[in-house]
Amino acid sequence: MKRIAVLTSGGDSPGMNAAIRAVVRKANFHGVEVMGIYHGYEGLIEGRMELMDLGSVGGIIQRGGTKLFSSRCPRFKEDVYQFRAIEIMKERGVEGLVVIGGDGTYRGAVGLTKKGFPCVGIPGTIDNDIPGTEYTIGFDTALNTVIESIDKIRDTATSHENSFIVEVMGRDAGDIALWAGLAAGAESILIPEEQYDIDDILSRIEHGVSRGKKHSIIIVAEGVMPASELAKILKEKANITTRVSVLGHIQRGGSPSARDRVLAGRLGAKAVEVLLEGKGGRAVGIKNHQIYDYDFEVAFTTKHKADLSLYSLSKELSI
Ligand code: ADP
Ligand code: F6P
Repeated sequence: MKRIAVLTSGGDSPGMNAAIRAVVRKANFHGVEVMGIYHGYEGLIEGRMELMDLGSVGGIIQRGGTKLFSSRCPRFKEDVYQFRAIEIMKERGVEGLVVIGGDGTYRGAVGLTKKGFPCVGIPGTIDNDIPGTEYTIGFDTALNTVIESIDKIRDTATSHENSFIVEVMGRDAGDIALWAGLAAGAESILIPEEQYDIDDILSRIEHGVSRGKKHSIIIVAEGVMPASELAKILKEKANITTRVSVLGHIQRGGSPSARDRVLAGRLGAKAVEVLLEGKGGRAVGIKNHQIYDYDFEVAFTTKHKADLSLYSLSKELSI
């Protein structure tokens, strides 16, 4: 291969820039040119791309977001637009594509691969929900952002002896809630993967109060219910007043952690190696500290599983 392309798509995540940098630098190291495609699949079908030289990715390793911008592009699900994308890439001399994003982004890449155009996927999402990899780029940074926020909430919660409900991102995956809950010592954690029990939440608050605890923190993943709804339930059921904090998109921003930068560098380099070996239809990931590549189908035929041992552990540690 003489020229490949890279794009970022779906929800952005801290460390995407470090991954773009790794793709460009690794490819250049092997004498391969890289076209940067702007605005994900939307930009691809519009032909919005340009060559990225070594300098073009200077000074971005520490920046959150994505230099290439991102988009949601519903029409890319249609074959006609995927064929158009392939035509455009061929016209520009592009022979392989690296996509950085979540499972939706992977589906687009599978569509292109099935039509004969080799693609490799790098997992970039704060949700940590891509099957086949233990960690996704951005998860660690998002987690640290959440913990920093909860620590601050805890200060005021203690001073005023309040209970707080903190809503974090995660429509289908509870990893952020779970890990943040364990790391921040939350009394209760509600995740989409586990049925919640209001009586258990109430008895944990009451038990805390009876042993002199000055505050209580409950973390709820957005996919379970809005924090305001949970606050209403606790008020109606036990007359417990809670304050609500919705962390929202601050979780998606910020300078990537060292862990995310290193992961992005390793996965970006691996994605280029895989393409240069002539392989397409692959995703790269990390398992037992090792970087490897696997069939895209794994990402669709298996389901990401949150580590539920953390769920029971947090219950034991936050009594
Ligand atoms: P993420 O990649 O973070 O999961 P999305 O689910 O929004 O984010 O997907 C990002 C983009 O990937 C979509 O806007 C669309 O362009 C493309 N995509 C998603 N699902 C498919 C699909 N089934 N077939 C082709 N392209 C898809
Ligand atoms: O996939 C990443 C993510 O941040 C999810 O955690 C969240 O549910 C979703 O994106 C929010 O997306 P948007 O900002 O497009 O509503």
